[in-house]
Amino acid sequence: GTEILKDQLQRPIRDLRISVTDRCNLRCQYCMPKEIFGDDYAFLPEKEQLTFDEITRLADLFASLGGKKIRLTGGEPLMRRNLAELVQRLVQLEGIDDIGLTTNGMLLNAQAQDLYYAGLRRLNISLDALDAKVLAAINGRGVKPSVILDNIEYARSIGFQIKVNMVVRRGMNEQEILPMATFFKEYGVTLCFIEFMDVGNDNGWNLESVVSKQEIFDHLQAEYTLEPVEQNYYGEVAKRYRYKGSKSEIGFITSVSESFCSTCTRARLSSDGKMFTCLFAEQGFDLRDLIRGGASDSEVLATIRQVWEQRADRYSDERATHTDKSRNKIGMSYIGG
Ligand code: GTP
Ligand code: 5AD
Ligand code: SF4
Ligand code: SF4
Repeated sequence: GTEILKDQLQRPIRDLRISVTDRCNLRCQYCMPKEIFGDDYAFLPEKEQLTFDEITRLADLFASLGGKKIRLTGGEPLMRRNLAELVQRLVQLEGIDDIGLTTNGMLLNAQAQDLYYAGLRRLNISLDALDAKVLAAINGRGVKPSVILDNIEYARSIGFQIKVNMVVRRGMNEQEILPMATFFKEYGVTLCFIEFMDVGNDNGWNLESVVSKQEIFDHLQAEYTLEPVEQNYYGEVAKRYRYKGSKSEIGFITSVSESFCSTCTRARLSSDGKMFTCLFAEQGFDLRDLIRGGASDSEVLATIRQVWEQRADRYSDERATHTDKSRNKIGMSYIGG
């Protein structure tokens, strides 16, 4: 049965973002800068990762506390072997009515078909520029836009619903805002502009490098007329707009300029089994230890319930007061956004 579990700010638990690996085949400068994530970087050893059995069991328990939506993330989730098998198990869980995957798109040519057969229907694919030089400099591996665009087209031809994510950072890709908007408007895929966030401690964030929603909006309005669209669901992260006279939409993720903590219903699970109640948390609760120690379902449930009931996180609302560099936040590639 479903019970209504609320945190300290009366927010229910609705979404579970599951990171299935901390590894990635790219080195985006705003997420896993090469200088830090080099050849000798110590990623999590395989035995520290939750198995598919463990992930499925925890997801099932989350669902029984009100979880409805699962999003698989990484690092790059397609780097986790046999991911489609996990998808196939998660789609069967009672209470879960939406499963999405956030990916850099590199491995979709090899895996999209299997993921679709497994029951996945929604993909959020990252692409920060259409200009080859600009993109290569961002992703740290010289990957060309055509590689990602071809995989997007392939996934679309299979039948996936696709959203494209573009992180905008001053000095990195703001000149790509209009070209990206025009391309995806014509292509008929929703483009989501993401304000550069201070995730982790390594990405060189400062307020001046954030290109705000308003600024992006002003760029777009030079060319297009935009009308707001009703939100898809309570607590939707993106603020959406439609190009007037077209079916195409865009979205904005405004963690910096208009935070959305008051409706944040997201729990996060790292690939080594820690539960986090905020993207900007310093510490998580080790559920892997608990389940590998032989805890029963009701014991694990009681723990998750307790962690959620104590939750008071609202980092983005309070960002201006968190200028202390001493805060040791978890990394983006570890928690998956
Ligand atoms: P759908 O709405 O299901 O399509 O997914 P989404 O847009 O929430 O997920 P996605 O993984 O594509 O994330 C897009 C951006 O939103 C990423 O930069 C995430 O880090 C950011 N994001 C998602 N949830 C939160 C959140 O709770 N807080 C903050 N600050 N950012 C978030
Ligand atoms: N700020 C905003 N978005 C980020 N992402 C990764 N790092 C950051 C950051 N510092 C995005 C990725 C992907 C999603 C999971 O989060 O580009 O689209
Ligand atoms: Fe990899 Fe995504 Fe991070 Fe880029 S943003 S380094 S693709 S996990
Ligand atoms: Fe939720 Fe934390 Fe993001 Fe606020 S900053 S929306 S509490 S994850």
